[in-house]
Amino acid sequence: MDAIEITGGRPLSGEVQVSGSKNATLPQIAAALLAPGRSTFRGVPDLADIRTLGKLLGHMGARVERDGATVYVDADRVANPEAPYEMVKTMRASVLVLGPLVARFGRARVSLPGGCAIGARPIDQHLKGLQLLGAKIDLAHGYVEAQAARLRGATILFDLPTVTGTENLMMAAALAEGRTVLENCAREPEVAALADALNAMGARIQGAGSSVVTIDGVNSLRPMDIQVIPDRIEAGTLLAAAMITGGDVVVRGARPEDLDGALAKMREAGARISAERGGLRIVAPERPDAVDFITAPFPGFPTDLQAQLMACLTVARGASRVVETVFENRFMHVQELVRMGADIAVDGHTAVVRGVARLSGAPVMATDLRASASLVLAGLRAEGKTKVHRVYHLDRGYESLEKKLAALGANVRRVKGALA
Ligand code: UD1
Repeated sequence: MDAIEITGGRPLSGEVQVSGSKNATLPQIAAALLAPGRSTFRGVPDLADIRTLGKLLGHMGARVERDGATVYVDADRVANPEAPYEMVKTMRASVLVLGPLVARFGRARVSLPGGCAIGARPIDQHLKGLQLLGAKIDLAHGYVEAQAARLRGATILFDLPTVTGTENLMMAAALAEGRTVLENCAREPEVAALADALNAMGARIQGAGSSVVTIDGVNSLRPMDIQVIPDRIEAGTLLAAAMITGGDVVVRGARPEDLDGALAKMREAGARISAERGGLRIVAPERPDAVDFITAPFPGFPTDLQAQLMACLTVARGASRVVETVFENRFMHVQELVRMGADIAVDGHTAVVRGVARLSGAPVMATDLRASASLVLAGLRAEGKTKVHRVYHLDRGYESLEKKLAALGANVRRVKGALA
């Protein structure tokens, strides 16, 4: 298992380019299952999660090829509409194949994802929605088995906004008979990007990116050729890297409209952020001011940036209060940050972070994707050497993060095959 080794203390400076969005690519590639023929995806990040989905589609009989940043998916010969446990357990987002498979093939067998490091994460909303579209759902042997001769449009009110749930049902409804209205939808930019992709396939979807999405079902769809949007979470992570080091960085490809909630808090913490050179420039103070924040569905502060901003606040002037409302177990980075000298107390969903003047480098262990990123950020600030183990978590969602940080002046390198 690789590790990332960082010697902290250098303010970052320069320009860095954001890669394509992981969470936008995954549902778009799953959507390729909706149509026979070859779809083309441009600007696809080379990440473990994308490779996992590629393998899953390959397992079903699709042909998936990569040429640089372009991925081709030919879904002509899908013979086996099944997502086995071995694949779903490594990536929950595999559940995104459920909607497209039932819609096009009339049946699907997908392993239940189960728990994960950040909480229980049920898929009841996905299943309730498919049932309302007329699918027969059985749970047996750890699998969801869904069947429907043809899905029928319906009005579906989500109990809570779910990103992949909204995406799964948009894909299913695209081939249903009649009109589907989805209410209380997730408004994340990745949902809107998926609707754009589906509409490019010939779907008739309106309102994606707002809380009500209307889908007029069509009889068939055609392959798409699309450009992936930039990764707003990677962009936010790079801004946070500049923030924690008191740096001056231009993050190219960062779109302010995708990052509203996070930018507001970074500004409140004293960063100057402006649109520049096709992205965002951040000029950060030597130490941030303390800020309180609470995670929420888009356009609120994203849970996927909670750990990274918390890392910045460990060296803030004053005490900050962080409330996590989206996932129940998403403070796994706290104990590792404490090992680096941070002063953080957790009580239920709330963490109180008392800023300290300095962090000290230490060996630390990542437990999930965004927690890993927060430890790398803390290492950039800490005195001495930090070694972040279990980097496979980081590799699920960040393309060459250590190379991007090194190009901004950080003293960081990957150690191959380090002991965990
Ligand atoms: C997506 C993102 C993930 C991000 C999360 C929240 C992808 C591939 N992943 O995950 O990076 O952290 O959004 O922004 O896009 N819930 C239910 N029942 C359901 C579905 C969800 O109770 O059927 C709950 C979840 O447990 C959670 C909340 O709803 O508490 C939001 O989860 P959801 O938006 O579904 O997250 P994902 O789509 O899995």
